[in-house]
Amino acid sequence: MQPDREVLNRWSDSAPFWEKHREIIRQMFAPITQALVEDGQIGSRHTVLDIATGPGEPALSVADLVGSEGKIFGIDPIPEMVAAARRAADRLGLKNAQFDVAFADHLPFPADTFDAVVSRFGVMFFPSPVDAIREMLRVLKPGRKLALAVWHFAERNPFHYSLLRVIDRYVDSPPPAPDAHDAFRYASPGKLRKVLTEAGAIASSERLLQYTMQAPISVEDFLALRLEMSDKLREQIGLVSKEQSAEVNRQALESLREYSTDGGMSFPAEVLIVSGAKGRPR
Ligand SMILES: C[S@@+](CC[C@H](N)C(=O)[O-])C[C@H]1O[C@@H](n2cnc3c(N)ncnc32)[C@H](O)[C@@H]1O
Repeated sequence: MQPDREVLNRWSDSAPFWEKHREIIRQMFAPITQALVEDGQIGSRHTVLDIATGPGEPALSVADLVGSEGKIFGIDPIPEMVAAARRAADRLGLKNAQFDVAFADHLPFPADTFDAVVSRFGVMFFPSPVDAIREMLRVLKPGRKLALAVWHFAERNPFHYSLLRVIDRYVDSPPPAPDAHDAFRYASPGKLRKVLTEAGAIASSERLLQYTMQAPISVEDFLALRLEMSDKLREQIGLVSKEQSAEVNRQALESLREYSTDGGMSFPAEVLIVSGAKGRPR
């Protein structure tokens, strides 16, 4: 399947911001990493693959868990993302992590290599998720599991909707096309699970992870983070007129204050964790 150039360009533009905010992103999404570890049945001495790793997560968080006798690999098609992941691994002094530039549907690994395959917020951007999941199954060892995290509906996630609602008052944005390759492509329960089954996964399952997303930063810093992290918000804020921008900023801060606590920002969050296994040969 041909790469989706528009999607790749957007991620290329986002790479410096995802590296800049790496640590806060790691903290905000840590419970999702934990769910992937559980559902992927990742343990000590395992060899694990993280697909669409971006600047290195959940790979870097899992590196400790697999330990020095285990190994973690991460792939992403954006060279700047892979460079950021390598820099973070060097800073952390990790000897058991390796990051490579690759697409999800062409994995540069032999069959039956990994004890687990995970991907956090990646599959929604792939041109052919079914081909990518077939590749994940190819590189998994028989009987082992893959686990994927995708967003539940936008309206269940104020992390997404609180700012979009404000900006929507000022900028016309057409509704996304059905099956658009965006964050909410697999928000409907059962949709991604069906793709796993079509790709040949067995014993597939899905669970709704409801958790409190914590970002230990001020409302102002959180607004800056969201406007940088999201290509959609970056694009939309660029369309707000000069005259309106101070008012948009005021309303954005006001809408975020609802989620501000003494320890920083705190949002209810909902994510689907979808997993399946590779069958054993008869
Ligand atoms: C939302 S980011 C997730 C990054 C990281 N997994 C995390 O949770 O912090 C989505 C990532 O998917 C990657 N991606 C987009 N298309 C891809 C493809 N065809 N194959 C593999 N990764 C892809 C992007 O480059 C980007 O790094």
